Amino acid sequence: MINTTEQNQQQALDHLEDVWLFGYGSLIFKVDFPILEQRPASISGWSRRFWQASHDHRGTPEKPGRVVTLIEEPGNICQGMAYRVTPDTFAHLDHREKNGYLRFFAPLSFTDAPEHVPAEALVYVAGPDNAAFLGDAPLQDIAQQIASSHGPSGANADYLLQLDDALKTMGAIDTHVAELAAQVRALL
Ligand code: SIN
Repeated sequence: MINTTEQNQQQALDHLEDVWLFGYGSLIFKVDFPILEQRPASISGWSRRFWQASHDHRGTPEKPGRVVTLIEEPGNICQGMAYRVTPDTFAHLDHREKNGYLRFFAPLSFTDAPEHVPAEALVYVAGPDNAAFLGDAPLQDIAQQIASSHGPSGANADYLLQLDDALKTMGAIDTHVAELAAQVRALL
């Protein structure tokens, strides 16, 4: 299994008082870290896709599940949740996101603010060159894989359905997630 923890920890954050984190997957519905503030937000130029294998949370090395990563797509807006956290929170997050995700700063827009306030947030992205990257596949194959995978953090289907519910509660439209959720609900 890959472990991107060490690589992420080379990015020093200790000089900062607080940091915005942008969550677009499990970080939206599973907040197991202390936060100072939370606001709905979006990042531009990225699409959320179930293109990353999970060997450690929602699948196993023998039978990997599928979780989301961000794919560069100019013009697309990805909606999610921003959390203001203290830099020491990243020790836990780097471990949680260890299977191929690298964090970097990206421009962030808060969707609850009437005016545009420029900000930057750290975002974890598992790029196409990481060993657990699966890429695209027919939607019914992705749905099948998600419906049949389980890992130490629970059923892969719960990851997808909780994400779909959370996005709908926020009023965020993501057709990739919604279509997969509909297919997986029909399979279960
Ligand atoms: C995220 O939620 O921002 C990263 C991917 C994940 O943990 O599902």
